[in-house]
Amino acid sequence: MQIINSIIHMQALAIAPEREGRRIAFVPTMGYLHEGHASLLREGRKRGDVLVLSIFVNPIQFGKNEDLDSYPRDMDRDFQIAEACGVDIVFIPTAAEMYPNGFQTGVTVRDIALPLCGAIRPRHFDGVATVVTKLFNIVRPDVALFGCKDYQQLAVIRRMTVDLNMPVEIAGMPIVREADGLAMSSRNANLSPVERQSALCLFRAIKTAREQFAAGERSVAVLARETRAIIEQESAAVIDYVEFRDGLLLHEQDVVDSNTLLALAVKIGQTRLIDNTVLGEEL
Ligand code: PAF
Repeated sequence: MQIINSIIHMQALAIAPEREGRRIAFVPTMGYLHEGHASLLREGRKRGDVLVLSIFVNPIQFGKNEDLDSYPRDMDRDFQIAEACGVDIVFIPTAAEMYPNGFQTGVTVRDIALPLCGAIRPRHFDGVATVVTKLFNIVRPDVALFGCKDYQQLAVIRRMTVDLNMPVEIAGMPIVREADGLAMSSRNANLSPVERQSALCLFRAIKTAREQFAAGERSVAVLARETRAIIEQESAAVIDYVEFRDGLLLHEQDVVDSNTLLALAVKIGQTRLIDNTVLGEEL
């Protein structure tokens, strides 16, 4: 497994497979890898001849009062997981090289980036779209894999690659959960044991909404009220949003159907967690 820090070196390494017709599979991450990332890497291993993992805590997708400084990091552990998943190249650029003095270009995806996390974290998706564009230009992947836990992020990246004719296939992979239902996230490491228990209210809320949908409930007003109530039973939980939206364009809906996305963002102490489900899809 090669560890590459320089952009020009990574670009040079990406050119050979392209010329030889070998496929590059790419998993972009911010590190502190968990089983969710490992599932992306294992799938990437199947889909590509060369598997590239990037680890870069992207400063421009964090707001001023967000958790850039406390974002968990453990490079040695990340290398072990990467190695076990068959990664060929780990690309770890520096912020100084990614955003040198004078950097002033950004990628903005409009409507689909505005609701949900876009409403709470202004400019977050500009930061994501910009770094993913840069990473695609450096790594030149044939296929890039992202987790569906960041549902809106995946929708933004899909839109961006179509709109900008980027020659890369985007693969969305299922949410990986702990045995008790908590969606895997690097940020879970910041939860105390008590907060870890409180965080289960997200999955309880998802399960309840899905049960009510299966029992025939279709009203967003009713489902949203009940879903919020489950989370509000947990005193440590502060809701950022609980929203039912059309799963394709993320438009608001009054009545749900099997393609409806339930998206949640909830703060547990200092840690902001997101989770989601599409009501008609398997959990
Ligand atoms: O999902 C993430 O880890 C990040 O948002 C990404 C896609 C690597 C961009 O920094």
